[in-house]
Order: sequence, then structure tokens, then C-alpha cells
Amino acid sequence: MQQEKLQELLADMSLPEKIGQLVQLSGEFFQSKDISYGPLQKLGISQETIDLAGSVLNVTGAHATKQLQDQQMAKQPHHIPVMFMADVIYGFKTVFPIPLGLGATWNPDLIRQAFRTAGNEAAASGNHVSFAPMVDVTHDPRWGRTLESPGEDALLNSRMSAAMVTGFQTDLADKAGQVSCVKHFAAYGGVESGREYNSADMSLSNLYQNYLPPYKAAVDAGCGMVMTSLSTLNGVPGTADKWLLQDVLKKRWGFDGILISDYSSVYELVKHGFAADDRDSAMKAINAGIDIDMKSPIYANELQGLVEDGSLSEDKINQACWRVLELKNKLGLFENPYFGTSEEAEKKINLTVDKRALARKVAAESLVLLQNKNDVLPLTGTEKVALIGPYADEKSLTGMWAVHSDPADCVTIKEALQEVLGERLTYSKGTDISRDKEKLRGLGFLTDKMITQVVADDVTEQKHHDEALKNAQAADVVVYAVGEHSFEAGEAGSKTNLHLPDNQVNLLNDLHGLGKKIVLVNISGRPLVLSNVTDKTDAIIQAWFPGTEGGHAIADVILGKVSPSGRLSMAFPYTEGQEPLYYAHLSTGRPQDGSQHVGRFVSRYIDAPTAPLYAFGYGLSYAQVDYGDIQLEKGQLKAEDTLKFSIEVTNSSDWEQKETVQVYFHDDVASLVQPVKRLVDFKKVVLAPHSKQIVTFAIPAVHFSFYDNQGESILEPGTFHLFVGTNSEDVTSVEFEIRQ
Ligand code: NOJ
Repeated sequence: MQQEKLQELLADMSLPEKIGQLVQLSGEFFQSKDISYGPLQKLGISQETIDLAGSVLNVTGAHATKQLQDQQMAKQPHHIPVMFMADVIYGFKTVFPIPLGLGATWNPDLIRQAFRTAGNEAAASGNHVSFAPMVDVTHDPRWGRTLESPGEDALLNSRMSAAMVTGFQTDLADKAGQVSCVKHFAAYGGVESGREYNSADMSLSNLYQNYLPPYKAAVDAGCGMVMTSLSTLNGVPGTADKWLLQDVLKKRWGFDGILISDYSSVYELVKHGFAADDRDSAMKAINAGIDIDMKSPIYANELQGLVEDGSLSEDKINQACWRVLELKNKLGLFENPYFGTSEEAEKKINLTVDKRALARKVAAESLVLLQNKNDVLPLTGTEKVALIGPYADEKSLTGMWAVHSDPADCVTIKEALQEVLGERLTYSKGTDISRDKEKLRGLGFLTDKMITQVVADDVTEQKHHDEALKNAQAADVVVYAVGEHSFEAGEAGSKTNLHLPDNQVNLLNDLHGLGKKIVLVNISGRPLVLSNVTDKTDAIIQAWFPGTEGGHAIADVILGKVSPSGRLSMAFPYTEGQEPLYYAHLSTGRPQDGSQHVGRFVSRYIDAPTAPLYAFGYGLSYAQVDYGDIQLEKGQLKAEDTLKFSIEVTNSSDWEQKETVQVYFHDDVASLVQPVKRLVDFKKVVLAPHSKQIVTFAIPAVHFSFYDNQGESILEPGTFHLFVGTNSEDVTSVEFEIRQ
């Protein structure tokens, strides 16, 4: 539709119609026959609100969305199509690893392809906007939503963020793909003590340096929408933070798309004690810049009154409504309200051989080999293998946010290993995912009946245990697949105990007693504490929730079809008490190594190491890769120059190896204390067997700036250290200088 026509449409709409465009309701509202019960009544939503709602949350499937589109368009006075929005966070029908695993690939190009794929599947099923990427930087694995984030680092998350947005939006012009809605603005991942929906309090320097960049990367990549956070930042709820939404997002970054609140967060402004009542909430949210109120009755019930009594100008409503209409128009919905929706395409493009192959490749690159004593891995494929554990033959490999997929489509570890090992593989469950009924009840989703299906009676449990030991005894190698229940991680999955469940550890102890080689495969949505299992195992593979093709990817690594190349995008703690734990912490006056103080009075714990068990960027491979010295083109440069350098990387093995060359720096002296190290660039290169490669970098000097407490980026002249290596700790370094 021409802009003029769109303007005419806006001018012709009644106030309730315009407000309707700012209201998003979820599927049950539209499908319900009687609105006097359930969520509708509870929220005080009227039938008129439902009929005029401009967008729909989490209804997918070509048939369902087409039907609902027809229904809503018929009801709307101007027959305006609705926009369908859903959580397509790391896959739709073909599911990729959870974003923490995607972060561990350090391969933005590959992740761009994954998101393009996911976007195309979702578009065929009728969805227009995806609530992704979620790029909240997180330093604390107690937070369940760690699962949804690429990790702990601003630069890595930013590269992933841009790749995800671009992947989603690549095919929009061809009526495929998704409009990307980055979330959760801002600093949700900084919530204190990792407790869900808690608050974040931080300096502006920290906010700009460590938390904002990934959202900005999404905006720079052209994301169409931004979702606010359920948390508060420095005392202001994300949904009413005028400074953040107007001054930073719109004015400073130039974002001109749609701002949507997170689920009922406008409503929650009263609970926060930030608004006096619903009317006040509506006023605060719209004035802050929220265009669409997700799943709350506030805009629907309050905006009209505010305009009518003169408290709010109708122009504010017009502007917000215009942004919604504009996006609908950009998608061409006025001409074709179904966009890419197609039952035929749905059947043809979901879970194809190619998509599964991509999911397998991404999952394999996400796996991180944490330990490999005496090169126990890879297996040759001729061994007798006892596969044991609650995740050994489990289809639930997609994690909590893959809500549109079917676990039945997943390939289990057993299925995948069997394809190669055949009779040489035995399987036994060994033990349940958890034996703690109270804990399972606390997850909030499982009924008592479901819990009895998860937790076997004692006799059955003993049978599983005995069978596992018998199989292990007869095997050359044990592959023990353990981890968290999928409901333990994800939204509202905060927890304080990051150890593997006792029953899983007890069985490991018994298996260890047999003296067999043990390969532990850990399925989890967050870094767990593994310090109590390292000496009982030979190899450890961190497998996240690896997605539809997870079983194949794990088998590919175990059997040496690929050499693992995943690198942690978040540190694994030695103990929970170290959290929040992150590599880019500020320098202390009394570092454990290098202080003039010795013994007690240094920055450390008296009962645990200071360092993580596995550092940011860490991961082993089967290949032997060595780094040479950093070759700086010039050791001194000016602010407008670019630092150019190279490093020789040698693969002296028979393996082809993907190696992530990581570049960090430290600003030696600055007017604000700086992190001991900060990632400034990385490249994932492919090294042929027995080959050398000179990997080159060109980093503009301005990238060595930091943010001050006014939010200004400053580059202070002086000396810096550059570090290059295979992880954040194992690096070679050189000094350079930036002159005025
Ligand atoms: C609440 C979650 O915080 C958000 O990430 C999600 O997109 C919405 N619900 C919609 O499902």
C-alpha cells in the first residue's frame, strides 16, 4: 500500500481501532467461545478488545493462522490483518542447540544460516515476527535464562545477535523469514543473584560496555522490533524506562521500529510499585515508548480514557499505531494477509534432509570437549560401548523454549550410536533424571502423575542400576549421558545448586569403581558445577540441549567423524559460590597472582579456587594446534589507525580442525579500572591436517576504547596488552601503544 493510502487508513480509524493495534493477545483469547471465564475474565478483556487486537501471540500452523487471520479481518472495521508473533528462539520444527550452545560455536556465519532456516519454517506456518534473538549478556548460571543467551561476553553476543537478525530477515522480500524482535531490553541478564525477574543495578560504564552492545548490534543489523525486559535497571522497570527507550534506543541508536513490552510487564508496573494503578501504568508505558502491550489489559482498558480526558494526546496513539501499520505494510499484509503461510510449503520445507544436516553440523560445532584424559576420545568404533544414563535414549533434547517443535523428531544418542556400533552397543537407563520429587514438583509444570512417570519405584530403579553395572562390566567404554531436566533451565528456572543430581553422581561413582573408561555427556541449559565428576571420568562432553539432531552430533564427536571445535561462551564454575563469575572482571589491587601481599590478604576464596573450572573460550579438540608469536605490523599507532597483526597457527595432526583464534586486550592504565582481559575480535579458521595458517587481524584503534560513566566511549592513549590464543587463559601476549 502506498504511504498516502496508509495515512488515509490511519486517519479513518476510530480511537478504539487504533488502540486495538497496540494490543497483543495470545491464542486462547481468540479461540475461546465463552469469554466470561478463565484468563479473559481475569484480565478484564472485552470481546471488542479481542476483535480489534492488532497482533496475536504464539499461534502457529498454516491452517490455524489462516483461519484466525480470516476471522479477525472480518471483524475489524477496516479489515486490517493481524500480525502473528511467536517465540522462535533457536529453531521452529528443526531445532538447533540452545543459544548458549550456539554461542559456543563461535561461528556467526553458521548461525546466520540456522536462523534463516528457522525463519523460513516459521513463515510457512504463518508467523511474521519472532521474539528473538535473546542476547542478554549473563554472568550467572544460576539464572535459568542463561539457556537463551549466547553467553557472557558483549562482543561474542553482538556478533551472534547481528547474525541471528540478518538470518531471520534475509528472505522477507520473498515472503519468507521473520521480522526479528531483539530482547530483553535491557540488562535482564544482569539480575542480582541470578534470581528470575529480579533487578539489575550497575554503573553506566558497565551497562554501556558489557550489556548494551548486543542489542545495539541487532538494531544496527536492522531488527524490526525490540522487546523490553521484565526486570528493573537501576530502579526503573524496563517497560517504563524513558531514558533507555527514548534517549538510548531511539535517539542515540536511531531505532525507529516497534517497541513491545514483555508479557504483562505493563500490568506489572503496579506490582513494581512504579505506577499507582492501571491508568498510571498505561501512561508510563506509552510515554516511555511502548507501542504494543503484550498480553495485558492495560492499553485496551486505559488508553481511551486517558485520551478522552485530555491526559494523553491522541497523537501519541497515532504514532504508535502508525509504526504497527507500517510494519504490516512493509510485510505486504494489506495485499496478502497470509504472507508466506502455506500448508503445502509447511509439509515440504520442515525438517528436510538439508535442514537436519544443518542442525547436525551446528550441534556438532556447539559441543565442547571439556576433558579428554589419555585421548580416550575419539573411539575407533570397534569398542564395545555401554551407553548408560537418563539422557542416553531421551528424545527431550531441545530445551524449554523450543515450544513449536515435537521431541519425537529428535534423534537420541542411542539411536545415533547404534547406527554405527550396531551390536557393539548396549543400553541401560541406569537411573532417573532426578529422584527428588520435591524438586521436580518445584519446577511448576509437572503434575503428581507426571512425576511418578519420571521417578521410578525403588525396585525399578535398582533394576536399572544393576543392569547398567552389568553392561558396563562387559564393555570397553562407558558413555554416561546425564544432565538437568529440561524444565530446570529456561524462564523462571533459577536455581542455586548447579551440581548434577545425587542419584546421577552416585551411579557414576559405582561405574567408576569398575575401572572402565568413562565418557560423560552432559546435557544442560547452563554451566553446571562438574568439579566433583572430573576425577571419575576420562572424557567430558558439554552438549547443552543440542536440538533435533543432537544424538547424531554427539555420536559424530564420540566416534571421531568430526573433531570438536566448540569453545565455552560462558565459564564453568568450580563451585556455585564463585558466581557471578566471568573472565572480563575488573583488575583488583590485590590479585591472587602478582600482588605484593602474599598468603591471606589477596583477592581469593579461602575454600575454593578463584579461577573457574573451565574458562571462557575453553574447549579441547582431537587435533594438536599450536600458536606462534604475535607479529605486530606496528607497535605504535594513533587513534585513527588500525592495529594490524598476524599469528601463525599450526595443526600438526591428521585431523582437519576448526580453530577459533581469540583476541583479547587489556588497557594498562585508564581513568576507570578496566577488565583484566576483554575480547576484541576472533576468527574461526579451518586448518587442514598437517598445515600452518597465518591468521591476520585488523582492529581499528577505536575498538580499544571504553565507556565512561556518562556513557561516552573514550580512547585513552597509553600502553595496552594484546593477547591471542585458544581460550581466555591460554594466550600469548605483546604490548602496543596508542599515541595522541
Ligand atoms: C515472556 C518471555 O520473557 C519472553 O521472552 C517471551 O518472548 C514472551 N513471554 C512471549 O512468549
